[in-house]
Amino acid sequence: MISVLDIAFDLEEIIDLSISLKKNRYETVDIAKNRALAMIFEKPSTRTRVSFEVAMRQLGGHSIYLNPNDMQLGRGETISDTGKVLSGFVDLIAYRAFKHENVVSLANASRVPVINALDDKEHPVQIIADFMTVKEVFGDLEGRKLAYVGDGNNMANSLMLGASSLGVDISIGCPKKYIPDKEITEISKQLAKETGSDVEIVDDPSKAVENADVVYTDVWVSMGEESEREKKEKIFSKYRVDQELMDKASKNAIFLHCLPAHRGLEVTDEVIDGIHSRVFQQAENRLHTEKAVIVYLLQN
Ligand code: CP
Ligand code: NVA
Repeated sequence: MISVLDIAFDLEEIIDLSISLKKNRYETVDIAKNRALAMIFEKPSTRTRVSFEVAMRQLGGHSIYLNPNDMQLGRGETISDTGKVLSGFVDLIAYRAFKHENVVSLANASRVPVINALDDKEHPVQIIADFMTVKEVFGDLEGRKLAYVGDGNNMANSLMLGASSLGVDISIGCPKKYIPDKEITEISKQLAKETGSDVEIVDDPSKAVENADVVYTDVWVSMGEESEREKKEKIFSKYRVDQELMDKASKNAIFLHCLPAHRGLEVTDEVIDGIHSRVFQQAENRLHTEKAVIVYLLQN
C-alpha cells in the first residue's frame, strides 16, 4: 500500500470499516493475533507511530518501532535485503521514508505488505482518516467539495487521488511554482472523469474555497525541506487559512489539517481552535483507520 492508487477501489469500504471499528472500539477482535508489524521511521512521527502501535495491540498483535540509525540499514545494508529479512519475521511493514523510491524498493523486495507511512510523494494512510472524518460529519462523500490550500506536497497528491476515487470534488489553491505532482494530477483527473467529480488547480485561495464543504491545509515546509523555510514562508503567506478565508467557503464548511500544525503560519489559532475545526476528531480517526488498514491487508 504505497499509494492511494493501491486502495482506490476499496477506499470507501476501508472508510466504512473504520467507522464500524470506531463504534466497537474496545471489542476484542483478534484478527492480528500472533502477527507483527515492523515500523521503520526515517522521520519523526506522533500520530502515525502511536496510532499504528495501539491499532496493532487492539487487534491482538504487536509492533516493533525501528529507527534506521539503530539498524544495519544505517550502516549500509540495502533496503532490498532489509525487506527480504524483515519479511521472514513480521507480517506487515510500515515505512516512513524521505524518498518514495525507497518505499517502492522495500515493497518490491518484501514478501509481506508494505504500508507507506509517508514519503516525499504521498501520505496514503492519512487521507483515509481525512475522508472518514468528512463522512462522519456530513454523512456522505460523493458530490462534496474539498479545498486544499497551501503547498502542493505529499498531502495534496494523496488528497487528489483520494477525492477523485471517491467522487469528491477537489480544488487545490497553491502558488504556480508549488503545484502538486504532474503525473498524479493527470491520474486524478482521469479517475475524476470516471467518478463524475472535478479536479481543479488554481493559484487564488479564495477561488479554491468557493462552495467548499471542507477547507484543508498542511505545513508549508515538509519534513526534509527545512532549508527552504525562509523562502517558502514568504511565498505562502497569502495562503494562510484565516477566518476571512473560511468565511468564503460554504456556511457549514469544516476545517481539517493532517497535523502537526504551525499555528500562525498556514492556519490561525482562531480557525484551528474554532467551532468549524475537526482536526482532533480527524487525528483520533487515524487509530480507527490504521486498524481498518491492518484488517484489510491481513485479510486480503
Ligand atoms: N499526520 C501525521 O502523519 O502525523 P505524524 O507526523 O505525527 O505521524
Ligand atoms: N507534508 C507534511 C505532512 C506531515 C504529516 C510533511 O511531509 O512533513
